[in-house]
Amino acid sequence: MVFFHNTGFCASAVRSRRVLFSLLLSVACSFALAQEQNVPHATTSADDTKASRFVSDLLGKMTLEEKLGQMSQISYKDAHSVSHEERILKGQTGSFLFLTDPAEINRLQHIAVEQSRLHIPLIFGYDVIHGFRTIYPIPLALASSWDPSVAQHVQSMAAREASAVGIRWTFAPMVDIARDPRWGRIMEGAGEDPYLGSRMAEAQVRGFQGDVIGSPDHILACVKHFAGYGAAEGGRDYDSANISDEQLWNVYLPPFHAAVQAGTGSLMSAYMDLNGVPATGNKFLLHDVLRKKWGFQGFVVSDWESIASLKTHGFAAGHDDAAVRAVNAGVNMEMTSSTVRDNLAAAVKNGSVKESAIDDSVRDILLMKYQLGLFTNPYISVDHARGELGSTEQRDAARAAAERSAVLLRNQAGVLPLKKSISSIAVVGPLADSKPDIMGSWSLAGHPEDAVTVLEGLRKKLGSAVTINYAKGVEIDRVQPSIFDDLFASPKPVLKTEQERDAEFQHAVDQVKKSEVAILVLGEAQNMSGERASRSTLALPGRQQELLEAAVATGKPIVLVLLNGRPLDITWASQHVPAILEAWYPGTEGGDAIADLLAGDATPGGKLPLTWPRSVGQVPIYYSQNLTQIPNETDTRYWDGSSAPLYPFGYGLSYASFQLSNLKVEASSLRPDGSLTAAIDVQNTAAVAGDEVVQLYTHQRAGSASRPRRELKGFTRVHLAPREKRTVTLTLHGSDLGFWSPQTHQWAVEPGVFDLWIGEDSTATEHVTFSVVP
Ligand code: BGC
Repeated sequence: MVFFHNTGFCASAVRSRRVLFSLLLSVACSFALAQEQNVPHATTSADDTKASRFVSDLLGKMTLEEKLGQMSQISYKDAHSVSHEERILKGQTGSFLFLTDPAEINRLQHIAVEQSRLHIPLIFGYDVIHGFRTIYPIPLALASSWDPSVAQHVQSMAAREASAVGIRWTFAPMVDIARDPRWGRIMEGAGEDPYLGSRMAEAQVRGFQGDVIGSPDHILACVKHFAGYGAAEGGRDYDSANISDEQLWNVYLPPFHAAVQAGTGSLMSAYMDLNGVPATGNKFLLHDVLRKKWGFQGFVVSDWESIASLKTHGFAAGHDDAAVRAVNAGVNMEMTSSTVRDNLAAAVKNGSVKESAIDDSVRDILLMKYQLGLFTNPYISVDHARGELGSTEQRDAARAAAERSAVLLRNQAGVLPLKKSISSIAVVGPLADSKPDIMGSWSLAGHPEDAVTVLEGLRKKLGSAVTINYAKGVEIDRVQPSIFDDLFASPKPVLKTEQERDAEFQHAVDQVKKSEVAILVLGEAQNMSGERASRSTLALPGRQQELLEAAVATGKPIVLVLLNGRPLDITWASQHVPAILEAWYPGTEGGDAIADLLAGDATPGGKLPLTWPRSVGQVPIYYSQNLTQIPNETDTRYWDGSSAPLYPFGYGLSYASFQLSNLKVEASSLRPDGSLTAAIDVQNTAAVAGDEVVQLYTHQRAGSASRPRRELKGFTRVHLAPREKRTVTLTLHGSDLGFWSPQTHQWAVEPGVFDLWIGEDSTATEHVTFSVVP
């Protein structure tokens, strides 16, 4: 492995600056080197030597066609001119995706291992994004737990189900930072922040893979989409990302780096172009950053046909050129298109790709198959698979995760939890009793019939003592078809006459009128977010807003439960609806979890992993902007409305309430390689237990570049008994203060004065200052 050292650059840069700046840089340079040395080194354990010897021997026996076969992945579902069996027999594929039947996985594996010339096992990949058969809360919801151990546990449970059927590789986690909720894929990531995103990225990698790649009941992670996909222009899926170097290094790349450091075995190149160069043919990303700078040792798979689409981008001249450029840039495996299989033999012959580059590519893939144990343990037990899928343990974990992921946005006059004395409740809305919708997008292997809706959860919880008056009220009509229509049991649009619709609407309002309290379950249909599901508005789709306003007009207390994959425009609701619970798409056990939360058997403790806009006109919006001219007027930047968010990043309420005081830091300064512990007293002032997420933010007052007004640098979720007071400590590492400077082109910790806040969200007010000293 080659390591990248920038000593020369640092030396010349220091020579050419003023003394103060030189000093600053020398600290920066020494820290930059420390960072470089942090990258994972090639290990030389006996096992690794054995693995590389095994793989080298195998490579030595392979024909070029067989090597290109290992670099090719086929979609099981798509019809091909050559049968899957023949491809396997001839060694023309090394991997399938979109196959979930354990018996069929075994059958194909037997052909590969027993009948193909070199007996190389196949690796079966699948999008296990938030669960396999048991659907867990969507990743944006997992991030709302602000508890990486939840994300880790969820993904290890998902790995258990997937590996039981023979899927040994997931295309997850998605670690794209997203600051524009119009982008439908915001639901697959951890939100807007690189620090929270990094903690969630590494937790998910560990969850999927276990302690080491090849751990029993675990699968290979595939961190995606490298890199910058979340910055798609206008929030339109697949559109170009134009990201400055400063934003790329400081915002978009850190979660990928964290995932690489956590040991991810694979990574997926993105669809779009980054600053003009398509990510799948982007040598800077795939080679210079990923391999050279970060020391990544796994393999890179392209996204779906993204090598073939290098031609569509107007980047490659044809599919032959596309294959050459993708592989030379650093892609190891081609997902679904066949440019590699079809063209690289000729490319090797004419010298545009070296056979040694093909060998390097295949070696990475085979090493991963070896580490996963596929050569020694290629098959699975179909009976075991049946027992694991949807087990009680899985469902319990899904319910607990959903409870920890919900965010209470508003709770006026203690509307929640519901009073025990209530005898009638209206449950209203198009999502109140929809099984597919509560699972959310990317739940392709989930079975809607397993899912518990909010209506069902409340019925179970409240029993016959409470009358539940249910009405759907309105439909959510889809405007564009979903790409997953043929894969997933999406609810079909219901065709009703206008009179029927009006009658249904009125029936819902009547149900509210005759109940003591009403729960409106509104939001988005599951296929309105996810891939190819961007929206130009954040409004509640269909007539949901009208229904909400009609329900409020009855004068009854209203609880709004949101099921959705992005923040929606709920500005009106935030002023008129007394209680709002953001449940995201909580998964198979969502209805039970929401019933627990509404009834007070669980207390909401999640916090927003993104800044919640007031309207679509505010996006992109995020808390960590730079300070610029007239900073105390940033809330009035628009002529026609507030520029402040509706809810800040990190925000979320509880049935308990907390007071934070007495912030102290153990020292007034730290060195770039040191750390600083901050302590704050957290008091639960309520008579109920609850969770608080204590959050630490910093700001660098001066340096070689303007730094964000606040940046999250630490957090912890604590549980406090009624009235309990505890001192919570958070450790700030000097290295967390580093950033990539657009002036020095270095990652560095710069000496100077910093602000530090600790509080309940990104508007925290408890404040101290400290210094970084060389
Ligand atoms: C998506 C990937 C996904 C792949 C396989 C692509 O369209 O962008 O995130 O892993 O399909 O399903």
